[in-house]
Amino acid sequence: MAEFGKIQFQKKNNPTAEQKGTVEWRSPSNIALIKYWGKHKGQIPMNPSLSMTLKYAFTQTEVSWEPKNTNEKVAFDFFLGHEKAGEEFEKRIEMLIRHFANEFPQLLDYRFNIKSINTFPHSTGIASSASGLSALALSILSVALKTNAASMNYDEQVQKASYYARLGSGSACRSVEGPYMIWGSGAQTNSSDQYAIPFTPHKDFHKIHDSIILFDKRPKKVGSSAGHALMKEHPYRKGRIEQAKKNTKKLIEAMNAGDFETWQYITEQEALSLHGLMMSSPQPVLLLEPNTLKFINDLLEFRTGKGYKVAFTIDAGPNIHLLYAPSDRKAIQDFIGSWLLDNHLNLEVIDDETGNGAKQLF
Ligand code: PMV
Repeated sequence: MAEFGKIQFQKKNNPTAEQKGTVEWRSPSNIALIKYWGKHKGQIPMNPSLSMTLKYAFTQTEVSWEPKNTNEKVAFDFFLGHEKAGEEFEKRIEMLIRHFANEFPQLLDYRFNIKSINTFPHSTGIASSASGLSALALSILSVALKTNAASMNYDEQVQKASYYARLGSGSACRSVEGPYMIWGSGAQTNSSDQYAIPFTPHKDFHKIHDSIILFDKRPKKVGSSAGHALMKEHPYRKGRIEQAKKNTKKLIEAMNAGDFETWQYITEQEALSLHGLMMSSPQPVLLLEPNTLKFINDLLEFRTGKGYKVAFTIDAGPNIHLLYAPSDRKAIQDFIGSWLLDNHLNLEVIDDETGNGAKQLF
């Protein structure tokens, strides 16, 4: 397993440190093809995962800082859009700043004003915690460097941000770069449980469309921590870990070779395995809805014998991400449109595609 190296910084109270300022990062969400499901203490995944970085679904986070003049240990205000965010968000942010402060203790000398906006609404089948915590980790890391008059090269910086993003929300570590990301030891010689690394496969996978069909926009029935906890005593735990390891290797090989057939097979098997695991947990969880299943069955029938480069995937909810190559865009989008009409459903469909990762705006 690759180890995460600590980089030495100058001590606090550095006279050349920037006492006040603003930074801003944009970070995309990601969709897992190999699913991370189950974790050990310290946000260490039970199995490797592989995701596609999205392009248009992102969070933009601005962090301003100034010397603090209160006794609070961690001092910040957090706004999501124009509103002050709730306690749940505040707890996560405080925890993340505390993690950073173990390595960059000078951060506790400042007060932060944090403003985040998402390009997509909450609970839409797009992981806002992934883009949100990744943008926040990148921003706080920039502040940590500026308040220490330190610098890092870009690769070190995104790797360290991935490490901290993971502590905020596991899959967020896969939102710093693109077009694909691998997280978890054993997947590749240089992959790690501590942070994700970029993966650039055969050129035919560089642009894949993702139509996200929103069967249900209500908040998740099972939060992600409760979901991961289902794997602790799961009867199929050992088999699942083996399956994910093998699938990760096979998927990497297939994507390097431009093999869409294997990509389709593994991507779909992973989505169905995730839901199979939830349904067979000691406390069973059923998140698929009748229309999710109807859509999958109709898709399988529609594509039979046509060789389309298309695969469905589903996270911990009922919404489908339909992934497809640009060459099949018209056929697949026509299929989605007709399916919605035939089934008298007026559902929102969000269109996204492969993206290249986070970007510093300021
Ligand atoms: O990062 P978390 O704790 O929200 O978990 C994400 C879990 C899945 O979305 C179901 C799978 C994945 O790898 O993203």
